[in-house]
Amino acid sequence: MKKDSSPSKVAVVTGAAQGIGRAISLRLARDGFSIAIIDINADALNQVKKEIEALGVQALALKADLTRVDEIQNAINRAAELGELTVLVNNAGRVLITPFLEIGEAEWDAILTLNLKTVFFATQFAAKQMKAGGRIVNLSSISGRSGRSDQAHYAAAKCAVISLTQSAALAFASQGVTVNAVCPGVVDTPMTVGIHEVRASSLGITPQESLARMVAKIPLGRLETTEDVAGAISFLCSPDAAYITGQSLNVDGGMEMN
Ligand SMILES: NC(=O)c1ccc[n+]([C@@H]2O[C@H](COP(=O)([O-])OP(=O)(O)OC[C@H]3O[C@@H](n4cnc5c(N)ncnc54)[C@H](O)[C@@H]3O)[C@@H](O)[C@H]2O)c1
Repeated sequence: MKKDSSPSKVAVVTGAAQGIGRAISLRLARDGFSIAIIDINADALNQVKKEIEALGVQALALKADLTRVDEIQNAINRAAELGELTVLVNNAGRVLITPFLEIGEAEWDAILTLNLKTVFFATQFAAKQMKAGGRIVNLSSISGRSGRSDQAHYAAAKCAVISLTQSAALAFASQGVTVNAVCPGVVDTPMTVGIHEVRASSLGITPQESLARMVAKIPLGRLETTEDVAGAISFLCSPDAAYITGQSLNVDGGMEMN
């Protein structure tokens, strides 16, 4: 399906090789943006590029290790060569399930780097390109809304992403750039599979049972789809969201209500 929107409006999605980032990329492609996708996993990224191109939309796949500031800058600059950089979705993230007392310095730094430092620098580099306004959407999490005993570093980073979203919204409001976050709940992705493999082994149950226990706590009664998240991000990048900035939207089936 070919879209007739201007091909010069570019949306950049980080961590786009699988999961939520893949779904966001496909949704924004359907919305009419050209898409620059960034990930460390080149093979999977190229598959997503093909899926975007099959929609009749221009796509650029950029392999980068987003824990390296020079690679973030290079990827954002190359994305801007595709057209007018209009949207940045800071999606790349990583979780490790580790008891509070067992988190060492290297693990703390790794989780805080990708989930927080990367978001800051990608935002800085993209905002410099968004001279005619734009949209930045950050992936926080319900883990950023309340503490987690087995992912204290991840929860701290995701909470800080909410603060960073507010600061960036203030910093870039005068140039017409809105900055918002979404806080997904329990999404059907490889990340969630990994979480429940670890939790299941410590509880002596199956990963399926661990996940089922979690889903039982979701008011809307089902696992979140990647499209649930992508739909909210599509809205925040749409004209209807022009007057929304500095907000963090729970997209979680009712798990968190503040
Ligand atoms: N899955 C959930 O339930 C859930 C819930 C709340 C928030 N989130 C957040 O949503 C975002 C996407 O989550 P997901 O479940 O799709 O994750 P995922 O693990 O399925 O995908 C993450 C992607 O990021 C890429 N990535 C990892 N390290 C990278 C690096 N150094 N450089 C470049 N790319 C890198 C991976 O290759 C992968 O393609 C993350 O920020 C996550 O914290 C997920």
